[in-house]
Amino acid sequence: MTTGKDWPRELLWTALWAVVVGAGGMICLRFWDLPAIMNPSALLFFLLTSLAENVTLVDLQPKLTVSASLAIIVATMILFGPGPLVFAAAFATVRFGDLRGRLRLTPLLFNRGQLALAGGLALAVYDRLGATVGRAGVAGQTAAAFAAGGIFFLASITAVSLAASLKEVRSLRATLAGSLSATAGQAIALISLGILCAHLYSAWAWTGIILVGVPLAIAVASFRRYIRLNDALLASITSLVLVLEARDKCTHGHSSRMAEYALAIARELRFPPHRLEQLRRSCLLHDIGKIGIPDAIMDKPGPLSGHEHAVMATHPVLGATVVGPLEPLVDPKWIAHHHERYDGTGYPSGLKGGEVPLGSRIAALADAFDAMTTARPYRPAKDWEESIAEIRANAGTQFDPMVVEAFLRSLPKLRGASARDDNWRVIPGVVPGHAPGLARWTGGAATTPQTSSFSRH
Ligand SMILES: [Fe+2]
Repeated sequence: MTTGKDWPRELLWTALWAVVVGAGGMICLRFWDLPAIMNPSALLFFLLTSLAENVTLVDLQPKLTVSASLAIIVATMILFGPGPLVFAAAFATVRFGDLRGRLRLTPLLFNRGQLALAGGLALAVYDRLGATVGRAGVAGQTAAAFAAGGIFFLASITAVSLAASLKEVRSLRATLAGSLSATAGQAIALISLGILCAHLYSAWAWTGIILVGVPLAIAVASFRRYIRLNDALLASITSLVLVLEARDKCTHGHSSRMAEYALAIARELRFPPHRLEQLRRSCLLHDIGKIGIPDAIMDKPGPLSGHEHAVMATHPVLGATVVGPLEPLVDPKWIAHHHERYDGTGYPSGLKGGEVPLGSRIAALADAFDAMTTARPYRPAKDWEESIAEIRANAGTQFDPMVVEAFLRSLPKLRGASARDDNWRVIPGVVPGHAPGLARWTGGAATTPQTSSFSRH
């Protein structure tokens, strides 16, 4: 559903799409050079680009995958010039997965356009530095290739970040900063690798490529094994959340909503991407300790006695113990202290002010806000305005005033996300799509072991 408030963003998104696809198309026409593209060596590099894009794909975190195709594209630019570069960037990078099932033409064309555009900008830099006509010498050509590769990467990731910020109602600066911090190091390594490939191919033809390709393939295989292990750990977190929800049916969905509120606050407080992920997982599991609370207390419809409350109050520490082996994917400290209060009257440790870990202070506010705004068997839900007023009133007593301020700043985005489809969630971390193998906008369809989904289809 598109709300009335969304139309300027939809208009901006449509304009961005049209400009990117139009400019990309013009660059494809401008540099189209069939004899150079049909050169057998260039064709083999296109095949390598496609393999790099599809086979070396590694999921780093939700919505962020890395492939080695940037390296091959840089090598193609150095070895074969403008026509093959634009062809490799725009067409050899199609992912087979994008063509399966229902064809998603909008993101497919956007990605062809933004990659052609990035190729055109890279060519302009490479040409400007005198590298295409051999004026620059080996050192100059290497520096020019590095600059051109960097421009290619930056142009692509900026276009994808723009698309993501418009479609996900997020700030461009935050999206771009998250993408760059997660991928810049790999981009530098891939550009260097591409330049090395080009030099080795020039000196030893395919022997040079094999010399660099075999150890690279082994490194990628090892990295993929590591990622699979990491995925298994993330799946175990999902299982724990399911166990918790089965145990406490009246708070179904509470943990994932709370995680989204907490992330919105943490973004305002400039948490880096890896801490955002850690916070999200910790919030999803914040009440996991309730699996150790007896049914008679968990399911009691009325108020708890003093003893029962004392038993219930053990759940944060029990939860921290349960998730201890998952550190650093989650932070057990944040779970242990999510019922502390800023004025020191909370539990289990009665910590005060800054003694309470920041993640716990954020989780406490997010937890309370979701509890207020959802109905329970023993009371109806409050509306957002009433709940926000209560949060404000408790700044400095129950809640950290700095966290309350961040929460208030995040409200426009939270309201926007809330007004959208249920499956249109604000995703933590970095840009959706693939980077820096090649940044691209997925337009949806990404699946993660967590609860968020980028798709609104
Ligand atoms: Fe709790």
